[in-house]
Amino acid sequence: MVAVSILNLVKSFGSLVAVNDVTLEVREGETYGLLGPNGAGKTTTIKCLMGLLDPDTGTTSVYGVDSLDNPIEVKRLVGYVPEEHQLYDSLTPRELFEFIASIRELPEERTNKRIKEMVKAFDFEKYYDSMIVTLSQGNKQKTMLISALLHAPKLLILDEPFVGLDVRTTRMVKDIIKIHVESGGSVLLSTHIMEVAQGLCDRVGIIDDGVLVAEGSLAELRSQAHEESATLEKLFLRLTEQEEEVQVGVDALREALSE
Ligand SMILES: Nc1ncnc2c1ncn2[C@@H]1O[C@H](COP(=O)(O)OP(=O)(O)O)[C@@H](O)[C@H]1O
Ligand SMILES: [Mg+2]
Repeated sequence: MVAVSILNLVKSFGSLVAVNDVTLEVREGETYGLLGPNGAGKTTTIKCLMGLLDPDTGTTSVYGVDSLDNPIEVKRLVGYVPEEHQLYDSLTPRELFEFIASIRELPEERTNKRIKEMVKAFDFEKYYDSMIVTLSQGNKQKTMLISALLHAPKLLILDEPFVGLDVRTTRMVKDIIKIHVESGGSVLLSTHIMEVAQGLCDRVGIIDDGVLVAEGSLAELRSQAHEESATLEKLFLRLTEQEEEVQVGVDALREALSE
């Protein structure tokens, strides 16, 4: 069984092809990183997987459940933290969690216990009854994560989960990912920050201009690029053909700054 299967996915907006024939798989029990520069097509791919966008062609599924045929079952299997938070500003985290638990029809006692444990683990007690609108970016992200984990999903999908987080919250999100996988779950995350992916992901897919240009573990990507000790950042720049551009830019900067 695979956690995610994306097969020949194409999605365009007018004449712009945002996702161009992407095929990838997230294996059960792994952390998979979808990497690419801004505008590469990461969010669009994830939204198609969640059944939030209709693809032009291709299919996507989660644990064998087709995103378009059965979006409700997909949402049951997945805890999804989107890139842009759609939080209810005038609610408190407590009210939001209770609201989500009721619409998902989660068993009250078990869910309350789970909320309590997560709020404690996230060191979130003091914000639990504050209006969401007053929370910092990091605390909003914690609210989103707890919301996404309430129904104990098998797959966690995190779209750019580290943007705007301080060191401590970043560490906490990384730990959540690790614990989720250790307890049998799978993770799909998107990021444009290479250092994060290098330590966290079992395999990565590199997407550029809607096209998946490379896929594999760090070791596999190194051997594909004939670079035995390259960092993921270097491989990424090479595989997205930006290495020369970056060098030209650096040379120009050096010259400008030394004048
Ligand atoms: N709703 C939309 N309408 C038009 N263009 C869009 C829309 N959503 C995304 N795009 C375009 O599709 C491309 C891929 O976007 P996105 O998937 O958000 O990239 P990423 O998440 O990798 O930064 C970009 O060029 C973006 O401007
Ligand atoms: Mg995005």
